Amino acid sequence: MPNRIERLDLLISERRIRARIAALARGIDADYHGRSLSLVVVLKGAYVFAADLTRQLGTPFTTDFISASSYGAGTRSSGKVALGGTGGLQLDGRHVLVVEDILDSGRTSAAILDLLRRRGPASLALCALLRKPAAGGLDLAADYVGFDIGHDFVVGYGMDYAERHRNLRGVYRLIPGGAAG
Ligand code: PRP
Repeated sequence: MPNRIERLDLLISERRIRARIAALARGIDADYHGRSLSLVVVLKGAYVFAADLTRQLGTPFTTDFISASSYGAGTRSSGKVALGGTGGLQLDGRHVLVVEDILDSGRTSAAILDLLRRRGPASLALCALLRKPAAGGLDLAADYVGFDIGHDFVVGYGMDYAERHRNLRGVYRLIPGGAAG
């Protein structure tokens, strides 16, 4: 079925993403000095970022996946964060690094960090590929950020609009159908 007409403008190319992830991985390796990490990857959006980041890491790590959803099929957060898959996480005494694709309002990551903090990790840090300005409004310390971006809704590199565009290799601004000039 044909999609509504929408515009996609390239914001961050595959090449820039690759270079930035390599730098993030070097920073993480330097900070953890070979201590083992527990990565907690936030589905669905972060799966592409996590795949590329982990293949650049020298630090030994284990990987767990949790799910978080607040956007449904729209471009605005519903404000409610639904978390899943957190029940079996064993993080006591572990160095935990949460891997997120984007900090938009920051509410998802704040909810995740709150929950994981109660699991008794030795340390807890956050790595996000993208950060929007609104995330600065929350008291949310992101330890590793790939790119600070503007307010636009973005897709690609794991991120979707109504489940589409996750497979794009770069990050794109999405202007939904009807709003494009
Ligand atoms: C997106 C994104 C982050 C979150 C960021 O997830 O992957 O997890 O929203 O928004 P926030 O900072 O305003 O909370 P989404 O709810 O779209 O689910 P998905 O990753 O499964 O597509």
